[in-house]
Amino acid sequence: MEKTLTETNLISDPVEQFSRWYSEVKNLQIEMYDAMTLATADEAGIPSARMVLLKGFDENGFVFYTNYTSVKAREIETNPRACLVFYWKEVDRQVRILGKAEKVSRKESEEYFQTRPYESQLGAWASQQSTIIPDRSLLEKRFEELKQKHPGGNVPLPDFWGGYRVIPDAFEFWQGRPSRLHDRIRYTKKGKIWEIVRLAP
Ligand SMILES: Cc1cc2nc3c(=O)[nH]c(=O)nc-3n(C[C@H](O)[C@H](O)[C@H](O)COP(=O)(O)O)c2cc1C
Repeated sequence: MEKTLTETNLISDPVEQFSRWYSEVKNLQIEMYDAMTLATADEAGIPSARMVLLKGFDENGFVFYTNYTSVKAREIETNPRACLVFYWKEVDRQVRILGKAEKVSRKESEEYFQTRPYESQLGAWASQQSTIIPDRSLLEKRFEELKQKHPGGNVPLPDFWGGYRVIPDAFEFWQGRPSRLHDRIRYTKKGKIWEIVRLAP
């Protein structure tokens, strides 16, 4: 694995470049290699960020799943601009992705939901994510009720739950190097072309 990002070894398509780095961290079995920070902002521009898991990516964008009534979802609905950040300590790499988030199709959410473990499916139903709850017992009670309601699996996709796809228009790849002379390469979408520049570390 190369520990540099230079004009001669980088790939001109940023999704392919991401794919190369992503398969490297996956193959190295780096813990939580699929965890990313998702930053959104409300209509006043006040930012908020939290971790989510990357569930798929391709040239159309980067997909995560969540509750459509959560803070992040409400922010995306009023301001679709989003930023994703990956940090893989073991290889000294960071990737920043800027773009617009939009809901994935119901079909795509259905397909993903059906791959989730039974208890995670129930968990999606049980939690009205980001609302204030009096105590933990409420969640546990709901969970037990849902178990009774769907004893043998076949849990349907909640209408308040599904995926978002962040459609990128800029990427920044950061590779740590000795003496703080790190590599930083930015890709910005200009029409159909990705413009590539190097940034000072
Ligand atoms: C490693 C990690 C992965 C997470 N993955 C997800 C996820 O994929 N989807 C999700 O809705 N919340 C995920 N969470 C919880 C979120 O960070 C957050 O607490 C929750 O989504 C509510 O965020 P919000 O109130 O800003 O909408 C994850 C948390 C951690 C620490």
